[in-house]
Amino acid sequence: MKNKVAIIPGSFDPITNGHMDIIERSSKIFDEIIVAILVNPDKKYLFTLEERISMIENSLKELTGIDNVKVDTFSGLLVNYAKKVNSNIIIRGLRAVSDFEYEMQLTSMNKVLDDGIETFYMMTNTKYSFISSSIVKGVSGFGADLTKLVPKAVAEKLEKKLKEE
Ligand code: PNS
Repeated sequence: MKNKVAIIPGSFDPITNGHMDIIERSSKIFDEIIVAILVNPDKKYLFTLEERISMIENSLKELTGIDNVKVDTFSGLLVNYAKKVNSNIIIRGLRAVSDFEYEMQLTSMNKVLDDGIETFYMMTNTKYSFISSSIVKGVSGFGADLTKLVPKAVAEKLEKKLKEE
């Protein structure tokens, strides 16, 4: 049987418990998962690319019994990256109806660019449905307990980073 490689693309600035939920659940369905961080020099991120890679790698260590997830980066079109890694599967999380319009655009555009690409949506666990990287950044730096929102590996870094800002 062919190995089913699925890509979970995103900015991950930073990775949250919502992302981790999608990664963990999809790793049990597909043979290999690539968490692919978009490199976009025009966008301003809180964390550098290196910091985002290392936070995801350390967060993955917090998941037990999962060894089929790797971290990578890509620039340019996601469909081209998918070809490069021999995958035609994209996975995205859906939190609420408000995500739908943007996600539909993204999926439709990818389909126009490459008809062979299939996007699978997973409903985020309801306990994480309010979490986004932006909302997490909004409450960081004030000493709040972030561990319900982000992996431990991220909580510490986030608190430190926002204090520095
Ligand atoms: O975490 P995000 O920012 O919602 O992720 C968005 C991402 C990275 C999946 C999307 O912007 C993307 O795939 N960008 C690469 C450029 C591309 O392929 N664009 C066509 C689809 S709109």
